Amino acid sequence: VHEETDTTTGTKERFSRSGFILAAIGSSVGLGNMWKFPYITGLYGGAAFFLLFTICLLFIGLPVLMAEMTIGRGGRGSPAIALVRLSGQRLWGGFGVLSIAGAFFIMSFYAVVAGWTMHYAVLSFGGVIHEGVDVAATFNNFIGGFLPVLWQFIVMVVTGWIVIRGASGIEKFNKVLIPALVLILLFLMVRVLMLPGAGTGVEFFLKPDFSKLSNESVLVALGHAFFSLSLGMGTMMTYGAYVDREQSLGGATLAVGGGDLLYALLAGLIIFPTTFAYGIEPGQGPGLAFVALPAAFSAMPVGWLFGGLFFLLLAIAALTSCVSLLEVPIAYAIDRWGWGRNKATIVTCSLCFLVGIPSAISVGGAAQGLHWGSRSFFDWTDFIASNIILPLGGLVVTIFVGYVWKNAAKEAGLTAGWFMLWLFILRYVAPILIVLVFLHTSGIIKI
Ligand code: PHE
Repeated sequence: VHEETDTTTGTKERFSRSGFILAAIGSSVGLGNMWKFPYITGLYGGAAFFLLFTICLLFIGLPVLMAEMTIGRGGRGSPAIALVRLSGQRLWGGFGVLSIAGAFFIMSFYAVVAGWTMHYAVLSFGGVIHEGVDVAATFNNFIGGFLPVLWQFIVMVVTGWIVIRGASGIEKFNKVLIPALVLILLFLMVRVLMLPGAGTGVEFFLKPDFSKLSNESVLVALGHAFFSLSLGMGTMMTYGAYVDREQSLGGATLAVGGGDLLYALLAGLIIFPTTFAYGIEPGQGPGLAFVALPAAFSAMPVGWLFGGLFFLLLAIAALTSCVSLLEVPIAYAIDRWGWGRNKATIVTCSLCFLVGIPSAISVGGAAQGLHWGSRSFFDWTDFIASNIILPLGGLVVTIFVGYVWKNAAKEAGLTAGWFMLWLFILRYVAPILIVLVFLHTSGIIKI
């Protein structure tokens, strides 16, 4: 008899029902949808790519998301502990630790980019980015200096300050910021849709041209669906451990998936009309959000306000994801070594800050020694965490629920039909696709 029905073991942290859904939406809605998504959509096929992303998210992403939440609640603890508790086999603990390390490393560079968004919010509201300013030079000077380290530090402190209060702190924070995020999003969308020429952008984003798709598009779309839903990193398992028995996990999965998809849609409806109205190339890479868009915003009347709101939006989205990332190693330290939350938070934040410093100073070339091959320290961390650990973490989850954990059905609480479909995807569809994504993004095969 496994322990998943025993409510007395495991963590005592609890979310309220809406608190859990908001926190999980906060985790998934992040820099991924605003910073990465638009430029990969630009690169890999526009509207057809968005459609592909939607399909991947619904048919592969949601079942895996559901699996993570189910493992978390069933095992009532940090992924490393939950997987061992549910299987009775120590080996699974090692896989759990892999995801936890992934969350830690993502956090180390994600906090850097979160810091950039805060810096840019201040620059925009402060009127520093106005028409005529060389935005590319502004960005290069900024990331080439040491200011990013200061902002990274601020992000770590703010995130730590929220997470140190546990599930109830995380929940309160998300309950305030998610509605704020939605309001800013809608406000900006209405503004940019009124720009002359916005229609071309909407068309690029929503009118599919399937000839633009390649095999690579499929793998990129699936990889991004995973990143966007915060899968493979133990976040949804960790949050799942704080959910009470009465909550419907199927309902939560739909709410989080729907929220993330809606956010991606609205993000696209902000970015593409803006880029097309100002004649910017959307497939230009990661600089899109920090170089091209500030230029566009500064050319609008009262541009400081729109630019400022855009970066505030990014900062909020980033922070709510940071909170979920940081909670993963913290929960592990608490569950595994019996540390108090204060100690766990302070130690994790400090370590993560230190590991992130080389990322913060390696993007702009301030520290040329931090480049190996074609990648900087920042790029390596991103590559290893997002392209190697994330798909492996996702694979572990599908195999665990698909083949190892025999009582998943009971914990998931799905009707027989949905359960069969869920299991079918976890057993036969998701693992194959995840392995392909892994082989592709790790560079082992070229498609
Ligand atoms: N989902 C977040 C985003 O889209 C990133 C993230 C990945 C957060 C993995 C937690 C875990 O930006």
